[in-house]
Amino acid sequence: MTKSVNQLINYFRPSGYFLSIDARPGEREFQGVVYIAGVKTGKFVRLHAKGLTLENVRVNKELAEVRYLENDEIELIPEKETELDRDYAKELAERWGEAVDTSIAIEFSGKITEGSMHGLYPCKYEFEGESRELLATQFESHHAREVFPCVDEPAAKAKFLCQINTDPKYTVLSNMPSEVDIVLEDDTKRHVTFQMTPKMSTYLLAFVIGDLKKISGKTKSGVDVNIFATPAQSASNLNFALGVAIRSIDFYDEYFGVPYPLPKSDHVALPDFSSGAMENWGLITYRETCLLVGDSTSLPAKQFTGTVIAHELAHQWFGNLTTMEWWNDLWLNESFASLMEHYAIDQIYPDWKIWQNFETQEVVSALRRDAISGVQSIQQDVEHPDEISTLFDSAIVYAKGERMLRMLQVLIGEDAFRAGLKSYFERYSYKNTVAADLWSELGSAASFNVSELMNNWLTKPGYPVITAKCTGDTIELEQKRFLTDGKTDETLWRIPLFSSDENAPRIMSDKKISFQSSSNDFQLNVGNFSHFITHYDDKLQSRLNDRLSNFTDSDRLKIINEAIMLGRSGLASSADLIDLLKVLKNEESNAVWDLMSLAIGDIRRIVEDDYIATNNLKRLAGQLAGKHFDRLGILPDSDDNDNDIKLRSTILSQMIFAEDTLDASGDSDRPLDERPVTKSVLDLFTEYKYKLNEISGDIRPTVLAVAVRVGDNETIDFLVNTYKSTSDAELQQDITAGLTSVRKSDQIDRMIDMFKLSDVIRAQDLAYWFSWMLSNRFARTKTWEWLKDNWPWIENTFGGDKSFDVFPRCAGQIFSNDQMLNEYKELFLPLRSEPALKRAIDVGINDIVSRIDWIKRDYVTVANKLNQ
Ligand code: BES
Ligand code: ZN
Repeated sequence: MTKSVNQLINYFRPSGYFLSIDARPGEREFQGVVYIAGVKTGKFVRLHAKGLTLENVRVNKELAEVRYLENDEIELIPEKETELDRDYAKELAERWGEAVDTSIAIEFSGKITEGSMHGLYPCKYEFEGESRELLATQFESHHAREVFPCVDEPAAKAKFLCQINTDPKYTVLSNMPSEVDIVLEDDTKRHVTFQMTPKMSTYLLAFVIGDLKKISGKTKSGVDVNIFATPAQSASNLNFALGVAIRSIDFYDEYFGVPYPLPKSDHVALPDFSSGAMENWGLITYRETCLLVGDSTSLPAKQFTGTVIAHELAHQWFGNLTTMEWWNDLWLNESFASLMEHYAIDQIYPDWKIWQNFETQEVVSALRRDAISGVQSIQQDVEHPDEISTLFDSAIVYAKGERMLRMLQVLIGEDAFRAGLKSYFERYSYKNTVAADLWSELGSAASFNVSELMNNWLTKPGYPVITAKCTGDTIELEQKRFLTDGKTDETLWRIPLFSSDENAPRIMSDKKISFQSSSNDFQLNVGNFSHFITHYDDKLQSRLNDRLSNFTDSDRLKIINEAIMLGRSGLASSADLIDLLKVLKNEESNAVWDLMSLAIGDIRRIVEDDYIATNNLKRLAGQLAGKHFDRLGILPDSDDNDNDIKLRSTILSQMIFAEDTLDASGDSDRPLDERPVTKSVLDLFTEYKYKLNEISGDIRPTVLAVAVRVGDNETIDFLVNTYKSTSDAELQQDITAGLTSVRKSDQIDRMIDMFKLSDVIRAQDLAYWFSWMLSNRFARTKTWEWLKDNWPWIENTFGGDKSFDVFPRCAGQIFSNDQMLNEYKELFLPLRSEPALKRAIDVGINDIVSRIDWIKRDYVTVANKLNQ
């Protein structure tokens, strides 16, 4: 159903733009003028422009008529055919470094639209009791055309000379440092002209205008690094970002062997931001929680911030310096930056063991999503940028894509990987590429056929389960596609086995293989680098279970995750998880505990409607967590190591879960006095109520959730007011975690009533509110009713956003019975005609159906085992 689109580069290839824009925070319109020099490749010039009013349009100085075509395209037809004046052509060629034959001049004006968070948009914040705003841009993937007429395609690289004219009191930022910054004598306007950019794509251009504070430093090679935020943020919260940004650039300078290409690297925390961060060249923009780190920031949040910064900086090379030819290779941009975010942070903070975060988050989400029927493959054709939002499944495009590149990196070795990258950058800097260009550089560096290996992984959805059987000395392996609905298909993969057995081949490409085993300790995917799961026969599995404590954290958590996935699909029973948890009773690694918590969560889902089995599960969780709790307590300790800090929050949640036993109606059956941990957490809230910023973020969401669950309306009022008045986005997020844990009906209504109040809940944050409320079993029905009643509003507010599909996606991950399935179908089936939602809906239905089957299939055995 792909509509084919003319690429405008076939009509006109721009070499350089001079762009001048007048815009002021507070106003809702901007004016501009653009001069574009380039080479005409078709009969008439075509440009992209969306929502702009154009005036005085000239081609080679001759007035031109504008024809408005489909797909945001305009065609410029000069009243008289003229050629570019020879002297002027020469002058332009010198300026832009390329011969040109056409010059275009256009005056235009456009709208600064509230709520959209793309094009040129306002970000609102409060400072000293006053409402203020700044202006920012978001152009990826195709929103530059909302701000100026241009050839808005990644392959149309050009140089940009930009000028911003605004109120003198504001800081003005763009991709390059400012060159001329003058305020006119009458003091009403400030004109900032920036140095000319290198050749770059339009989606990477950016501007920020407003009152900003900053801190600065320099990399080893002298690049200026600046971190900016609104005055409402405390300056000390910028320090962490500065350190990570400088060290990441230093690291990439050396690792890629090609220096950071611009004189400066700015990083700006914006109060309104639709995604997490955006890699505009030299001017990276972020959501506040993805850049700012304060004293109370949790360790995982700090680590996440570090990885986001490293991710966007990796794009400064991979994506910005060399850019995909077209959007169908967007996955490569994102998978690569995702790989480097962990790679760089692992070098900078080795103690963080950041690859474990990758394994407990991205790997888990990729294996879950990629096992559902109907899931997309990594590589998908896109004919038009409008379709990009339809392929934006981050579990696939980011997480699975990263896993593929990590698999490749480990397989060919770090040296070859790095050498391949270096020659890739040397060859393609300031140019455009397709995935095959990267495979060919990596392949020659490694003397290995990379495209052959990667082909099915990238173009086919899903991944294999390898069945491993041991008969005598012979190990037999068979691969087939793994799906949670129990089905399979004929896809075969070339699977790097990373086997513990030296007799096993390095890569398995046949359906079945067998070999003489060389030891009794057989394990596949050692190190957890490859994208498959293993279903061992009983003998092999029980040998593994016996030796579990000798394995690395990665192998232990991999084995738990495999048990989770096999249980979900019916290849094994989820009751096995209970045995596995018992084997892990001495587990101390926080990463392994993350998977244990997920296993407990799976069992909990299966027995959700059975309070006796649930209470028995709670008892098991309490036994497993209890001894760690005795050691760790509730409050952070000065000699905590990183593992303790992370483990504490997991253990604390398990203790609270364990204490909250239920009666037959599903309500708590124990008074607070009989729930000592919960009671102490509540006391902690009471003590710190007026200084929530002093509670460590590692436990704060849990503390606030307890306060809300057992607290009264006054607690809710207090937290809502704090939410409204604070400019600490992280505290807001923790309060969201607290408030979305509400249990009483009137309090649930109160939360839902806030969903549409954009001055309370920013549009950027609604997805958290919605998905956390939907996960809360007390609030689920009401939240769902709200969604049904307000779908037109949702469509209006989030349609076109790349995370529009969060609504069907999230419900698909939660719903677990026939009635909910029917409700889901009733709302969403009619919406399948929307390209941005179709896949999320199809996958959502398949996900719910297999979840219902799984619960029905495993309920009796799981409950029996719990009740033994
Ligand atoms: N380039 C993306 C953001 C993007 C992609 C915007 C496609 C518009 C269309 C950016 O590099 C990115 O990946 N951001 C992530 C942050 C990530 C590192 C956690 C995001 O926003 O989710
Ligand atoms: Zn990215």
